[in-house]
Amino acid sequence: MGLHNVNQSFIFLWLLFMISVHLPNTNAAEYVIKTSWNNMTIDSSDQVIINLEKHDAESFKIVVQAPFYDDPPPSTPGDVGEPKWGLWDFELVKIFFLNDLHQYIEIQLGAWGHHFVLLLNGYRHTIRFGMLINYKADRSGKRWNGTAIIPLTYLPVNASKLNVFSYHGSRDKRVVNALYPVENIATAELDEIRSFQIATSWMGKELLSNETVDLHIQLDPSRTNLMLNVSAPFYNDPAPEKTNGGPFADLYKYEVVHLYLLGYPDLKYLEIQLGPWGHYLVVFWNGYYNKVGSLDSPLKYSFNRFGSHWNGSATIPLTYLPPRVYLMNAHSTHGVDEKRQWNSLYPVLEGSNQSSPDYHNLKNYKFVDLTELYPENDDTKCSQIWQALNVCPNSAVQSQTGIISLVILNAVLVLLLNM
Ligand SMILES: *[C@@H]1O[C@H](CO)[C@@H](O)[C@H](O)[C@H]1NC(C)=O
Ligand SMILES: *[C@@H]1O[C@H](CO)[C@@H](O)[C@H](O)[C@H]1NC(C)=O
Ligand SMILES: *[C@@H]1O[C@H](CO)[C@@H](O)[C@H](O)[C@H]1NC(C)=O
Ligand SMILES: *[C@@H]1O[C@H](CO)[C@@H](O)[C@H](O)[C@H]1NC(C)=O
Ligand SMILES: *[C@@H]1O[C@H](CO)[C@@H](O)[C@H](O)[C@H]1NC(C)=O
Ligand SMILES: *[C@@H]1O[C@H](CO)[C@@H](O)[C@H](O)[C@H]1NC(C)=O
Ligand SMILES: *[C@@H]1O[C@H](CO)[C@@H](O)[C@H](O)[C@H]1NC(C)=O
Repeated sequence: MGLHNVNQSFIFLWLLFMISVHLPNTNAAEYVIKTSWNNMTIDSSDQVIINLEKHDAESFKIVVQAPFYDDPPPSTPGDVGEPKWGLWDFELVKIFFLNDLHQYIEIQLGAWGHHFVLLLNGYRHTIRFGMLINYKADRSGKRWNGTAIIPLTYLPVNASKLNVFSYHGSRDKRVVNALYPVENIATAELDEIRSFQIATSWMGKELLSNETVDLHIQLDPSRTNLMLNVSAPFYNDPAPEKTNGGPFADLYKYEVVHLYLLGYPDLKYLEIQLGPWGHYLVVFWNGYYNKVGSLDSPLKYSFNRFGSHWNGSATIPLTYLPPRVYLMNAHSTHGVDEKRQWNSLYPVLEGSNQSSPDYHNLKNYKFVDLTELYPENDDTKCSQIWQALNVCPNSAVQSQTGIISLVILNAVLVLLLNM
């Protein structure tokens, strides 16, 4: 849904620069926009003040005080106080609240008294929009004020991050200022490569820099496969007796790198193991440690070892992915017997009871925006491969919209966190 015509590609990056905020409890919090979106200091007369405060037990209040540039109002003004489609092209302030799963609410407040509120689940994935809020704005001379009452139930669960942008001017003269700016656009995000580094033990102890493992995920040129590249130290552990590489069920006992891609909220997941001797394994799981299949068919896998390092590059058909991959983890293992070491991208959480390595501990998994690389994955429908495993409903449930799906997401998250 093309809701963000303006600066669409920057929004995700902006979100990364949000800072933690404590939502208003009793005390009010004040924020001032003092920079442009790319971190240039702006004139004090261009600054925008945003106050957040508790309204009542069910809602909080946002008060915006902003310079008024007298941009034209929306041409078909609609009913002031009603949701206004297209408000993002006019003079407005946008307030974002985000949680660790990249679920966020975007609250657009216009100088002319219009509002537009969206709930999103991951980058640009709108799950609900046009939600009603109580909003009033007044203009006087060169200033405007807006006051919005936002029900707490609109916020994604455990929303902990905030950013605010102000917009005025039209088209090529559009001015965008930000509470938390970005200076350099991280081109990797735009290049559609996702990079991760295994840099700690499974318990969270930092690894030496020559022992870290790099993973890169991107689509292959045909855009029907995921290309997974691994670059890892080579310990020259004993090689598997099965020579010639290929699918190998016992690979986990040797030098190996594991990637897990977890569908959410279904908790179906795909495991990919890659080794330095050309072996690999693909396993399908449906819920914690519930193996529902593995693949003996060959994968396109190239690898090489050079000195104390090895690289592997596997081509994985997108149809192997469970629906809606939103979480991931990765691990590397090497060493023999008591020297065996288990390292993790996302190690056990602090205060966890986990007392041995458990790559399937789904509580440790973290957000990955794979559906941005592969938007079709953002669908509850299983691929044929998953359907053949008999773990998908016969007729795919239409993706739910609205608060119901948020409630379901939240309920599953609670289950997940309590597992
Ligand atoms: C905006 O609100 C502030 C504080 O309530 C007030 O001092 C100011 O006059 C208001 N300005 C406008 C344009 O309503
Ligand atoms: C913005 O600029 C300030 C000072 O000029 C600097 O300290 C800060 O790190 C910059 N922020 C970003 C996100 O680049
Ligand atoms: C990394 O460096 C340390 C000390 O500098 C060395 O003992 C270790 O063998 C190195 N590891 C690898 C995998 O090369
Ligand atoms: C992954 O490996 C393939 C094959 O070696 C290479 O063509 C591609 O550029 C690599 N991509 C990344 C991001 O490293
Ligand atoms: C191994 O992979 C790393 C990271 O992708 C890359 O920088 C390096 O050039 C690769 N080495 C070889 C020999 O392919
Ligand atoms: C750890 O185990 C104790 C005793 O079984 C339990 O009370 C506690 O809630 C557990 N903590 C976590 C984080 O699971
Ligand atoms: C929200 O955060 C609190 C405190 O960190 C935690 O106890 C709770 O489980 C979290 N709930 C969800 C659904 O993430």
